Amino acid sequence: MTVPPTVQWNSDTCTVDLIDQRLLPATCHVVTIDTLHGLCEAIQTLAVRGAPALEIAGAAGMALAAYNDAEPNDAYEMIVSTRPTAVNLEVGARRALEVWQREGRAAVSDVALSVFDEDASRNRAIATRGAAILRTIAEELGGSLNVITHCNAGRLACGDVGTALGIIEEAWRGGVVDEVFVNETRPLMQGARLTAWELEQEEIPHAIIPDSAAAFILESEGAGAAVVGADRIAANGDVANKIGTFNLAIVARYFEIPFIVAAPESTIDMRTPEGADIPIEMRDERELLDSEGWPEGQGHALNPAFDITPSELVTHTVTETRTISQGHPPGRKG
Ligand code: MRU
Repeated sequence: MTVPPTVQWNSDTCTVDLIDQRLLPATCHVVTIDTLHGLCEAIQTLAVRGAPALEIAGAAGMALAAYNDAEPNDAYEMIVSTRPTAVNLEVGARRALEVWQREGRAAVSDVALSVFDEDASRNRAIATRGAAILRTIAEELGGSLNVITHCNAGRLACGDVGTALGIIEEAWRGGVVDEVFVNETRPLMQGARLTAWELEQEEIPHAIIPDSAAAFILESEGAGAAVVGADRIAANGDVANKIGTFNLAIVARYFEIPFIVAAPESTIDMRTPEGADIPIEMRDERELLDSEGWPEGQGHALNPAFDITPSELVTHTVTETRTISQGHPPGRKG
């Protein structure tokens, strides 16, 4: 099956086309959105999600706003308030806002198209760089390895091949990866629903595992690396990513396997000194309670969408231009 682009500004119709990820894996359905309200709702409810895809959506939202004669600052505020942790949403919207203020509303459409194109080329650079790291690890292990991943950092989270999953797929095509263990990623199951679906499309051997099984699987099956994406990387190298990433990093350290974070440079937020300064999105407790069958008005839950993995647990951060290895925060020279 040919998978359509995850999210794309359509300059002919002045609409945003996106795969409604709430329906996957059962149905791959593209929805067309023609209002800023509609797009913000799609972002908030995770019809479109994943940091690089949100960068594209942020710019596309501004293009929608420009076409519909909205006020630029209001549109920008409305977009960035939908999800606070993934800095890429703000990066995409701000880039469009600045062009709008400098060159006028007609120029915003081209920004939305450029952000999409640039994401494709940077994904491919990340995949090549990260796959080379997996190859080196595999050689040390005798030829090939299993990998473990969390959440979805694939095509569905980006404009093209993905970040973490792009690396894994490229390494698999190079004969380096045997099997991918996919954390289900509670409570919204981005691993079980989205990453596993993408691996299925590519016919890459994989197994969905409960998040809580990571230690058991690394002990019983073994894996040579953990590879994940990021929603924001602080100047000191701390990483915000889907809730449960920190747990996986601790488990990876116990088993002494490299913990690799893949993200475009735009995910590195030099204005944020360290992880503790990153705003963590708290989502509605009903996302947990409904899935466990609690009647409306009963039960209580905490539902943080992201956590912070301290830089000391990150072996390599791979971007489209560099590999930042442990002990060398992104903001430090040398
Ligand atoms: O809540 P989500 O599904 O938007 O969270 C997505 C993640 O945490 C991804 O791992 C991250 O955005 C990196 S995507 C390349």
